[in-house]
Amino acid sequence: MIERMLWHPVALSTEVVDRPVAAQLLGEAVVLWRDRAGSGPGRVHAWADKCPHRGAKLSLGRVQVDVQGASSLECAYHGWQFDSTGHCALVPALPTFAPPAAHCAKTFQAHEAYGLVWVQLDAAQTSLPVFPAHTDENLRKVHCGPYEVATSAPRVVENFLDMAHFAFVHEGYLGARDTTAQADYAVERTMHGIRATGCRAWQPQSHANASQGADVSYTYEVVAPYAAQLTKVPDPLTGKPVEWRESIALWVCPLTPETSRVWFTMAVADFETAASELQNFQNTIFMQDKPVLESQTPARLPLDLRAELHTTADKASAAYRRYLQDSGITFGVC
Ligand code: FES
Ligand SMILES: [Fe+2]
Repeated sequence: MIERMLWHPVALSTEVVDRPVAAQLLGEAVVLWRDRAGSGPGRVHAWADKCPHRGAKLSLGRVQVDVQGASSLECAYHGWQFDSTGHCALVPALPTFAPPAAHCAKTFQAHEAYGLVWVQLDAAQTSLPVFPAHTDENLRKVHCGPYEVATSAPRVVENFLDMAHFAFVHEGYLGARDTTAQADYAVERTMHGIRATGCRAWQPQSHANASQGADVSYTYEVVAPYAAQLTKVPDPLTGKPVEWRESIALWVCPLTPETSRVWFTMAVADFETAASELQNFQNTIFMQDKPVLESQTPARLPLDLRAELHTTADKASAAYRRYLQDSGITFGVC
């Protein structure tokens, strides 16, 4: 399955501190734990959340640090200790036994980027989704989520690309009922996914501390099957100077084919507003989306374009479905 070779976000880096954390990815139970590097926090590890001895969840265990400073994950059941490579280093019931190499936990690739822990289930030469705004020092990064959503990851991504719902689902915030017409926009394929440019909207309150409505111009980019970004700037066609811009990354973890965990990373020029205020705004917007998302049937995104009706206003969605099809994605689609 191609999805197992891709990198997926599974938790915020700040969630993985000194005890194991249970996560889920593509139907697999995963345990995350962080070793120690000297006196500070070290690397994050992602393993199957299943002890190879009797199948207990390793996430119930604890992180142990020995006198040399080496870290291991100790199973909660019989105390077997697994070093940071996954090898079993100690069976407490047989303290002098040297476990063979085959006594090991199942390990996955783990990496930290953009404030999140990323996991790849099957080793392959694939890179993380790009997020250029993250390295822009003039933009402040604020994480929102996780949000648990009872639908497939592709339904969440498609909703993020969809502007025609603003006036209805986000009335008074991202849209208004007297400006429902959607101007034409362009969609193209990119190296990583798709890009939609020239997307325009009138937004009564386009961000947390907007004091008045604004014409906003968006660029959307799908950068991986379950990851997308939008960049908002005031509409250049109105001739007003660009006073602010923001980029929002959507990261979706496909937990199961019909459940997802979602984060947003906001990259904003606003360094003054409290992070909690920016997060509250995003929470409000996403809580408006969630019941609609969870009501959609089928929960898996139909890739056959004849399965649902499409108009020109939906061309970003249609391009996204074609891209998933061409990429060989099978998880969360039908
Ligand atoms: S089940 Fe983990 S040590 Fe026995
Ligand atoms: Fe929405």
